Amino acid sequence: MFKPVKILDEKDPILRKKNEDVIFPLTKDEKKMIQHMIDHLTKSQIEELSIKYDLRPGMGLAAPQVGINKNFFVVVHEVEEGVFDNYVIINPKIISHSEELIYASTGEGCLSVNREVEGIVPRYARVTLEAFDENGNKIKVRGREELAIAFQHEYDHLKGILFVDKIDNNDPFKDQDKMRMI
Ligand code: NI
Repeated sequence: MFKPVKILDEKDPILRKKNEDVIFPLTKDEKKMIQHMIDHLTKSQIEELSIKYDLRPGMGLAAPQVGINKNFFVVVHEVEEGVFDNYVIINPKIISHSEELIYASTGEGCLSVNREVEGIVPRYARVTLEAFDENGNKIKVRGREELAIAFQHEYDHLKGILFVDKIDNNDPFKDQDKMRMI
């Protein structure tokens, strides 16, 4: 039987702690958790299952959100209806990015932030990450648009940063005209 992943709330200090690099080979528990995170995110994006298991839809989860202070995250990207690309990104670095900035029209969400937050988060339209896959192979991953936002959002989690930190409460739509809405 599927059980949802236990996700920490934004108030949890674990989300703000320093994260250590993952050491290869991965432990059994790390592999299991990665699969569980992918499974959770996939089900959360399938309406019928999100209702069945009471899951808030989400595209990404970073290790600290599930109580592990290590540098990895997963992203499940629906490329067409019911078709998902899974990304397991370990010990990542953003090695290049576009000049162009974008923001999500609906605002960003986070499975650790259980409240409505108004405002926009500036993100690069395109990013390239250097990281490792589950088997310890070096990989280069490019993301654009929605996927680029997800990568940057999760990457921030590994630095202890939440999207709400990047919104100016006094001016939540600051510099909106300098960015492209997606
Ligand atoms: Ni998040």
